[in-house]
Amino acid sequence: MSATVIDGKRFAEGLRGRIADHVSRLKSDHGITPGLAVVIVGHDPASQVYVTNKAKQTAEVGMASFKHELSAEVPEGDLLELIARLNGDDTVHGILVQMPVPDHIDANKVINAIAPSKDVDCFTPANVGKLVIGLPGPVSCTPLGCLMLLRDQLGSLSGLNAVIVGRSNLVGKPMAQLLLRDNCTVTMAHSRTRDLSEVVHAADIVIAAVGRPQMIKGDWIRPGATVIDVGINRIPAPERGEGKTRLVGDVEFASASQAAGAITPVPGGVGPMTIACLLANTITTASLING
Ligand code: GUN
Repeated sequence: MSATVIDGKRFAEGLRGRIADHVSRLKSDHGITPGLAVVIVGHDPASQVYVTNKAKQTAEVGMASFKHELSAEVPEGDLLELIARLNGDDTVHGILVQMPVPDHIDANKVINAIAPSKDVDCFTPANVGKLVIGLPGPVSCTPLGCLMLLRDQLGSLSGLNAVIVGRSNLVGKPMAQLLLRDNCTVTMAHSRTRDLSEVVHAADIVIAAVGRPQMIKGDWIRPGATVIDVGINRIPAPERGEGKTRLVGDVEFASASQAAGAITPVPGGVGPMTIACLLANTITTASLING
C-alpha cells in the first residue's frame, strides 16, 4: 500500500487566501488592519529565514507587518522595553518573539512580558490555560496546523487513538489538548517511553514531534494510520555532492508511506501550515481586541 501524501503547502495556500479575504473585510467593514510585530534577536540563519517568511506572508495577506531585528548582545531590559512598547501600540495586534533567544535572555521573562491579548504564539500561561479549558483565544500555531490537516484528511477524529511522540511546550502538550477537544484518545509518548514501537503501532493518528531525524520507523506504523510529521531536521546528503544536506522529518518517510493511509512530507507538510496559522491567530487577536 502507498499512502496519500498530504499536501500542506497547497492547504496553507488556500488558508492564506481565506485569511486575505477576512483581512479585506476587517478593513472595509470595521476599519481594522490587523498588524503583526515579529521580533528577532541575533543572526541565527534558520531563524532569519523563518522571520523573513513570516513578515513576507503577513504583508501578502494585507496585514501590517512590523519587523524588529535586535543584535545578539541586546540587553534583556531593552527587549522587555520593546515588548512593552508593542503591547501599548494600537496598530499591533500580534507580537511574536522568535525563539530561541540568546542564553543571556530569560525566555520565560520574555514570554510573560507579552500581553496575552497579543500573544499569537499562545505561549503565555494565560493563553495556555484558555486552550486547556476551551476558552476563545489564540491556539498554538503548529498544533493548529496539524489539526486542520487531520480534519481535512479524516473528517471527524472522534474516538480515534492518537499517539503524540514528543512532549514540548511548543507542540506536544498543546497538540494533546487539541486532540482531546476533538474527542481522540490521546497518548503522550517521549524519549523515555518503554516499547515505543508498540505504543506507536496502536495509533490511528501518529504525531511525530520529537526532533530526531527519522527516528520513527515504517514498521512501527499501523496499516492505514495517518502520520503527521512535525520534525524538520537537516542531515548530510553526500549523494547530492560533498558537503550537501537535505531536510528530513522525525519519521522514516519511504518505509512509513508503505504502511500509512496518509502521511505529511518534509518539507511541504506541516511547515507551511505554521505560518498560515500564525496569520489566523493574528485575525483572532485583532478581532478579540476590537470586540
Ligand atoms: N521558533 C521555532 N518555532 C517557533 C514558533 O512557532 N514561535 C516562535 N516564537 N519561535 C519559534
